[in-house]
Amino acid sequence: MKNRTLILSMIVLSIVGTVRAQVLPTYLDETKDIEERIEDALSRMTLDEKIAVIHAQSKFSSPGVKRLGFPDFWTDDGPHGVRPDVLWDEWEQAGQTNDSCVAFPALTCLAATWNPQMSRLYGESLAEEALYRGKNMILGPGVNIYRTPLNGRNFEYMGEDPFLASRMVVPYIQGMQSKGVAACVKHYALNNDEEYRFNVNVKVSDRALHEIYLPAFKAAVKEGGTWGIMGAYNLYKNQHNCHNHILLNKILKEDWSYNGVVVSDWGGTHDTEQAIKNGLDMEFGSWTNGLTDGASNAYDSYFLAQPYKKLIQEGRYTTKELDEKVRRVLRLFYRTTMNRQKPIGFLCSESHYNAALKIAEEGIVLLKNDHNILPIPADARILVVGENAIKMMTVGGGSSSLKVQREILPLDGMRKRFPIVDYARGYVGDTIQSYNGVKVGRSLYDLRSRETLIAEAVEKAKEVDYVVIFGGLNKSDYQDCEGHDRKDYALPYGQNELIEAVAKVNPRLIYVNISGNGVEMPWLKKVPAVVQGWFIGSESGEALARILSGDVNPSGRLPFTWYQQLNDCGAHALNTYPGTWRENEHIIDEEYKEGIYVGYRWTDKQKIKPLFAFGHGLSYTSFNIGRPVASANEITKDEQWSVVIPVTNTGRTAGAEVIQLYINDTKCSVDRPVKELKAFQKVFLQPGETREVTLTIGIDALSFYDETTRLWKAEAGEFNALIGTASDKITQQLTLKLKD
Ligand code: BGC
Repeated sequence: MKNRTLILSMIVLSIVGTVRAQVLPTYLDETKDIEERIEDALSRMTLDEKIAVIHAQSKFSSPGVKRLGFPDFWTDDGPHGVRPDVLWDEWEQAGQTNDSCVAFPALTCLAATWNPQMSRLYGESLAEEALYRGKNMILGPGVNIYRTPLNGRNFEYMGEDPFLASRMVVPYIQGMQSKGVAACVKHYALNNDEEYRFNVNVKVSDRALHEIYLPAFKAAVKEGGTWGIMGAYNLYKNQHNCHNHILLNKILKEDWSYNGVVVSDWGGTHDTEQAIKNGLDMEFGSWTNGLTDGASNAYDSYFLAQPYKKLIQEGRYTTKELDEKVRRVLRLFYRTTMNRQKPIGFLCSESHYNAALKIAEEGIVLLKNDHNILPIPADARILVVGENAIKMMTVGGGSSSLKVQREILPLDGMRKRFPIVDYARGYVGDTIQSYNGVKVGRSLYDLRSRETLIAEAVEKAKEVDYVVIFGGLNKSDYQDCEGHDRKDYALPYGQNELIEAVAKVNPRLIYVNISGNGVEMPWLKKVPAVVQGWFIGSESGEALARILSGDVNPSGRLPFTWYQQLNDCGAHALNTYPGTWRENEHIIDEEYKEGIYVGYRWTDKQKIKPLFAFGHGLSYTSFNIGRPVASANEITKDEQWSVVIPVTNTGRTAGAEVIQLYINDTKCSVDRPVKELKAFQKVFLQPGETREVTLTIGIDALSFYDETTRLWKAEAGEFNALIGTASDKITQQLTLKLKD
């Protein structure tokens, strides 16, 4: 009986299979391998259809292949929330009423969590918002290295260290793509300042390229499996990076076996033949600057549109290159628009707000806390000072600007948490009313003089127990914003004067810096507590109040070196920024003379004391780092090495410590940094609790990029494993030998 049923079901199944095969063409048959489906779809496409899918049809979309059932493909910024819709062919707001999103913290804050689980949560949550909004690709995350604190877009990136950025970018991509939304990792590569981004030709050693500027992209490709990469505006070896032979053909596609698409930055394509030959797959935003300018209905004139078709028709090119691009685009379609397993998504859910809050709380960094002045007691009388306490920071900054359903401002967060909170403006910075058509909340106009504003803050400061100044930068032009760099390292709008004046009358002063960059702090000795508050999105006020009140114990760690002064940074000490204009050419050569010595690698080498070191961050509790025990004293090239470190929370509050492992090569045929981050782990501990943290490294952690062989290489001999809780707080050292 059993056997008969089995045979019967097998017959039915095989009939269904045959019928299905007859009805469904291979390219639509989900039981078939994607590569097979791609080839089938490709063989059915006309030349026009092929040309159409490799360039935009509107500001943010490209067409699918309607005749075959491939829907339009929609991209959107990115990287901190889903950008509001603009009109089809204009930068102007579309005026939708269903495109308000949750703003997640900017990526410097995410990196500052030093917690890859937060990246995963970030990617998943953002993808769910994207799905609801009908977006198939998010233009992010950004992983350009923090080379100078003047870079207007550092806030969109993950700091100065290639290892940290790599560990943080991978789960973001995996989380996002697990929902069927493509990540588009940007801006590949060497886009490390903004001011002349369309004209900069970067000159960098192969070693610095591979050791500092490429690892996060490589991890995004090889470990994260990203489906999209965005070429950068600038040039490398005199070729624009959106069609750069070495970066795209050689490194990305050949060496790293990348099988996703290369998307141009908006307006980053310049030449049809280069775009055909040098690795570009999808052209977006030509004749626009990606932000404001843009020619209408230019799509047919895109470099990869009619001009490309003409070259094929004239016989100058076969469809070989075109088919290769289309294959990648079809692969992208199968991963996103044609992926029937992907969820529907939802917008502005409590789970997304919770994710934004959690990431913000874990990323805020307590930089200084003399005499444990923080946390602020619940019944304290508090004066909040500063424009950044009342200014929306989810708007502005360029293409990452958002339209949020809600943004809790710092003053509102403080008022919700503490009963007695007064406010003084203190300074006036940016009073713009709307950005890209999105209103900036309440009016910030205040015509009082600088002296009057400071005098008011000082008078009020005398009457309270604590003063909290929310200052910093604000995502307006030149103040952490796409398109321009900061003009100098100082705080703008007379904030230094304000801080000095308030510090004189009230010693319980807490300064909360809102920015994605370090700033000069000439008054630091006079201010007992400093918090780095980043641009943290929808839940800003809530997260900051929770940290300041001690409801949440700060656990963020700096993802970059906070220099005392600009010249403490290699790029500036060597006078390499912004570069030298070529005579009669629109090209500015910027030579990265500091080579691999970026961030702490530079300050270590030069023995410069930073204001706050890479990896630094305080807590309301204390930790004891016990004696590390290594798995071995020596390893071969194929073995891994681990170290177990007991960590104890010795204070009275639950909290988290970040155990960091740096490697120092004691002897090498090439110059090597004093130390380099190679492993880390954040560990959460209850008061009195001890946990063992295991950090593991392999040969990669001991290697450098050998410019002569163009391979990574580790030389046998002795290495030091430096263990600590910041790059300037190394408490333990072990020796490890790499055998021949
Ligand atoms: C930016 C990209 C952005 C694109 C689309 C460009 O100006 O550089 O990061 O994704 O515009 O808005």
